Amino acid sequence: MSVLRAAPLGCGAYLPERVVENAAFAQRLDTSDEWIVARTGIRRRHFAAEGELTSDLAIAAARRALADAGIEGSAVDAIILATSTPDHTFPSTATKVQHALGAGGFAFDIQAVCAGFVFALATADALIRGGQARTVLVIGAETFSRILDWEDRGTCVLFGDGAGALVLTATFGDGGPQDRGVLATCLHSEGAHRDILHVDGGPSSTQTTGKLRMMGREVFKHAVHKLAEVAEETMAKADVRPEDIDWVVPHQANIRIIESTAKRAGVAMEKVIVTVEDHGNTSAASIPLALSRAVGDGRIRRGDLLLMEAIGGGLAWGGAILRW
Ligand code: UT7
Repeated sequence: MSVLRAAPLGCGAYLPERVVENAAFAQRLDTSDEWIVARTGIRRRHFAAEGELTSDLAIAAARRALADAGIEGSAVDAIILATSTPDHTFPSTATKVQHALGAGGFAFDIQAVCAGFVFALATADALIRGGQARTVLVIGAETFSRILDWEDRGTCVLFGDGAGALVLTATFGDGGPQDRGVLATCLHSEGAHRDILHVDGGPSSTQTTGKLRMMGREVFKHAVHKLAEVAEETMAKADVRPEDIDWVVPHQANIRIIESTAKRAGVAMEKVIVTVEDHGNTSAASIPLALSRAVGDGRIRRGDLLLMEAIGGGLAWGGAILRW
């Protein structure tokens, strides 16, 4: 059987230059490096410079992904950019990236907060398998520093800025789990839990951008449960078992959530890519940032089986199985 698959061609990432260590927060808030490391695993994060926009990070990451894939921007016929911190309310940040790269086709943003990259990946896979696009650039890019309340110690220490990108292209496979490319995706959301992680502003409600608000403990409880469930569901859909997984590339919100999900999914921590220590939570950018680091340092190799999973505001969550 010959089936269309969305196979990876290359990836890349970009982090703003400015690095802020936990100690910087302890100087002006009632917090400490010890608390942040013990409760989250985060030690430092990158913040965009003044005037450095989500599109700037996205374009830099995309250029690196195109170089890694060995193709020009003109070879891309769709760009899907996952972000909750777009440059403007509209047009989409993706169209700015499209123009900068000299890409044709079409471009649009996806907003599923921290699960954005998995939602974008699933959409790219559907576009490729449906014959709508041949080569798709999937980007996660965020400047969460713009929506943080710097007086709220419960949230401002958790997030960082960055971008990561992945090029997918149509390839024929056999239809089995040995194929390269996206093998399965599972998406979920539950709007009943909108309030536990939200931004308190927007164009239609307050005509302001607003600030991030989170009931951390509540989100944590949903995260460990729902991520374990979706990991299992996605592996079953791809017809693979935990022992087949070479690498888990999870959303990087909290090391305790990452460890708990790996354990419940039956995958050892040695097989989990962890960047939360250096990046903090970069929302939609965290998975492609982690992916790029592990591909770049040689851990992830052609043919490896990857499990990705993420959860964020909405609540929205999902999983993906991809053979590199
Ligand atoms: O990516 C989107 C999804 N987001 C997530 O996955 C985040 C999920 N949630 C979490 O990661 C964790 O809930 C947090 C890291 C946000 C918080 O950790 P926690 O172990 O759940 O702590 P908590 O919220 O139960 O707070 C424990 C205590 C509280 O003090 P009291 O009420 O016990 O006196 C907080 O006020 O820690 C206090 N606290 C802090 N203390 C020092 C909260 N933030 C800080 C802080 N420094 N930065």
